[in-house]
Formats: sequence, C-alpha cells, structure tokens
Amino acid sequence: MGNDCLLAIAGISKRFSGVKALDNVSFEVEKGEVRALIGENGAGKSTLIKILSGIHTADSGTIFFDNTKVDLKTPRDAQDLGIATVHQELNLVPSLTVSENVYMGRLPHKSGVIDYKQLHAETERVFQKLGVKIEPTAVVRTLGVAKRQFVEIAKALSQGAKLVIMDEPTSSLSAGEAENLFSVIKTLQSSGITFIYISHKLEELFKIADSVTVLRDGEFVATRDITDCTMDNLVELMVGREITTLFPKVKVELGEPVLHVDNLNRVGEFENISFTLNQGEILGVSGLVGAGRTELARCLYGISKPDSGHIYVNGQECIIHKPLDAVNQGICLVPEDRKLQGLVLKMSVQHNVSLATLSRLKKLLGLIDSKKETDAVNGAVSKLQIKTPSIKQLVGNLSGGNQQKVVLAKEVLANPKVLILDEPTRGVDVGAKAEIHRLIGAFVQKGGAVLMISSELPEILGMSDRILVMSKGRIVQEFGADEATQEKILSCAL
Ligand SMILES: Nc1ncnc2c1ncn2[C@@H]1O[C@H](COP(=O)(O)OP(=O)(O)OP(=O)(O)O)[C@@H](O)[C@H]1O
Ligand SMILES: [Mg+2]
Repeated sequence: MGNDCLLAIAGISKRFSGVKALDNVSFEVEKGEVRALIGENGAGKSTLIKILSGIHTADSGTIFFDNTKVDLKTPRDAQDLGIATVHQELNLVPSLTVSENVYMGRLPHKSGVIDYKQLHAETERVFQKLGVKIEPTAVVRTLGVAKRQFVEIAKALSQGAKLVIMDEPTSSLSAGEAENLFSVIKTLQSSGITFIYISHKLEELFKIADSVTVLRDGEFVATRDITDCTMDNLVELMVGREITTLFPKVKVELGEPVLHVDNLNRVGEFENISFTLNQGEILGVSGLVGAGRTELARCLYGISKPDSGHIYVNGQECIIHKPLDAVNQGICLVPEDRKLQGLVLKMSVQHNVSLATLSRLKKLLGLIDSKKETDAVNGAVSKLQIKTPSIKQLVGNLSGGNQQKVVLAKEVLANPKVLILDEPTRGVDVGAKAEIHRLIGAFVQKGGAVLMISSELPEILGMSDRILVMSKGRIVQEFGADEATQEKILSCAL
C-alpha cells in the first residue's frame, strides 16, 4: 500500500442466503482519483459499496482507509471516517427541507432549539462550494431527481467526506444535468476528494474517470487506467464476451392503427398531443427531462385524467380514468420509477411477474394454474437473464438492473395491444439492454405496438420506426427512422 492509497479492499467476500454476491475482491483506490466501478447487473457493485458505507458487513476480508484497518459496523462508522455514499435509490426524507436533509442528525442548536438561521446559512455555503443553486428552505419533495442528487452530495460534503461513492448518479439525469454533475465532481476532485463512481453509461466514464475497476459475478476482473481502454475493452471485461448488436431492429410490416390520440391536453403538463400508433410499430418519444413525456404516459395509462381530448383503441373511443381501464383496453405501462409504480418489493419475483397476468392464467373455477404460472415466469426469467437464485426470491433483494427486467417481464407477459415504455433500459447493463431490445422486437413482431420514451438517443434512433420529439409539453417534430439524427433531435428538443 503506497502513501497515496486512500482505500484498500483486501479479500472481501459476501454471501446472501445462497447467493454469492462478492468473492475475494481486492483493489486499491488512490487519493484524489475518480475510480469507476463497473460490471453487469448483479455483479456485486452495490453490495461492495454498501459494505464500504457500513450498511452490510462483509463475511470476510479487510478494509484499510487512510492506511488504517477499519471496522465498518454501521453507517455512522463510515460517515465518521469520511466515507459518504450517494445510493442508487436516493435516501432523502421527501417531507423535510433541503437544509434539514443535509444536516440530518447534526442540526445546529441554540438554547435548546434548532437554529434555523445558522442551518440555512451553512447549507447555502455548501451549495456555493458546489456551484449549484438550490433553495435551502425548499421541501425535498418538490425537487427533481437532479437536484436531489446535489442535496445528497451537499450532505456528503458537509460531513467532510474524503471519499464520495456514487451509485449510478446519472441514471435519471438529462445530458445537461449530467454535465453539471461532472463539473461538480471535477471541482471537488481538485480539492483532493476521492470518488468511486458506478455507472452503466460507459461513454461517460471517458469524461469523468481516471481509472476503472471491473467486477464480474462477484469477482474482481481488472483495474485499468481509462486512457488505456476503449469502449469495446470495457464491454469485454464486463461481459467476458463480445456484444454484437445492441439495437437488434427487426423489420416488421406495420398493421392497422391501434392507438389514436387526438388533441389530448392536461393543463400544466402537455398540450395538443395527437398521434397514431400502428400494430407492429415502435414509436419513439424523445425530449429533455421535463418535456412532458412521462406525464403523457401516465395519462394514457389512467394514472391522471386529461382535461380534454380523445383516446381511441382499434377505432373505438375509450374513457380511461384509472389504470384498470387502460389494462382492459390492452394498454400497459412500464413506468419510469420502478420502485414507486412498477414493483412490490416485498413480494417474490414470481408474484410480481404474474400480478399482471393472473387473469389469463386463471382456471375455470377461478383458481390459479400454478404450473402454468411457474412455467411462464421461469421462461421470462431465463429469456431476460434475470439474475435471481429462484423465482421465489423477493424482488427487493435483486440488483437494480434485475428489478428493471422484472418490471418489463411482468408487462410483456400480459401481452397487451399497446405497451408504453418509460425509460425501459435505465440502469440496465449492456448485455441485458440488448436482451430487452430483442424482447421489444419480438413483441412488435407478434403484432404489439410500442410507445417508447427514452432519454438515450442511441436507443431511440436504434429501435424506433418513427420518432416524436417533445418540448415544453408539445410535440414539436416528427421524424421517420431514416431521416433522424442525434443532432436533429437535440436541436428540436432544446
Ligand atoms: N439483500 C439481499 N438479499 C439477497 N440477495 C442480495 C441482496 N442484495 C444483493 N443480493 C444479490 O447479490 C448480487 C449482487 O447484487 P448487487 O446489487 O451488488 O449488484 P449490482 O452490481 O449493483 O447490480 P446493478 O447494476 O443491477 O445495480 C445479486 O445477485 C443480488 O441479487
Ligand atoms: Mg447496483
């Protein structure tokens, strides 16, 4: 261990009942570097950082921090040493203010009461250091994901963190917000703070990381300087094989119009939305975060009601006031926020997947055909390569990317006419992404229709037959697959 070594992980192993999450992992991180940590879904990244932040205890192995052997039994231990973590699923209290979250558990007091003046002033100072504008008195619930991310970073900074660990921080950020985050990281790095940065967006590692460590199936594979790597190298290290086609676009004859939306409006969210979606078609919806895409999806699925406008399925007007109405019309949604809307974390993979399909699998007497159910779920699990010891595992115990695959499996098995996908491959590794794209392809080949919202331009361009661009709640442009380019889409979206 050299003098420049801030963190040394030596022989760390961790099992969860029957699952080997980490197997004898060792590597070092130097002071002041930005180290990327990558690997497929379920490779063990989050488990490792949960050990480093005192949430899980390793079964064996040693951790050295600042050349001292440390024992991280609780999150408090990690925090006291100067290890701060921004988790994959953010941990703020939505009903409290920004300041209260930043100084949670350490609120300044004066004569026995909380000194709000000092609290807000301190918080203000931290944000100044970060170079971002957020009101200390704002309630966290009212903030978007990007700002919540910065609140977490502010919290880390205010604790005097030497090591900041970020688990997929850009998965819900727009390109501009991500750039903003990168410049904050660069600023903090130049003041000597060290980062461990987990991401599935390999392109961004070339902008932000100095070096990269790869895990595969819980084992250490390699650490490389980023300047010695190409994208293909990284993929090969992660997956152990080459990935040929990331966007396997299948050619499908378009059929009858299945969904027709006519002049749909919802005040403050979107205006004059009209489009037609045909059988066999993938209609991409592009735009910046906040363009109204998710709001439109929620409305088509009956989570919110339109103020005016009409929705037709197979030529028949339908009134959709709640998700059950949408499902009865054959419209399903894979939501953006899987934790809030897509999954029951405390239920098994099997029950989550079959929730959407129960009615199809019911026998005459109203009993569930459990053999059919098990077969269907097992089929989906293996097709999507969902990493789980069995379909009895609780969904909450799966890695983030594997949870995403469960949400998708659930809706596809229900075999709807129209599948609305809101960021379908968020947090999903490159290999699984290709799998999901193949599954979407197979779905339209069988006559399904897909409305696909995605912030990833390569995904939009690679998968869509047609592309709608939304900006400020309106459709501002429509492109055919052959005429669209990244530049054209971006310039419309702005
Ligand atoms: N609490 C738990 N109980 C049981 N198994 C778990 C638990 N936490 C993680 N695992 C398992 O450990 C393995 C590693 O999961 P981990 O969350 O570390 O993966 P990851 O690399 O972060 O993946 P992703 O990119 O999908 O977020 C997975 O097989 C996961 O299902
Ligand atoms: Mg993870």
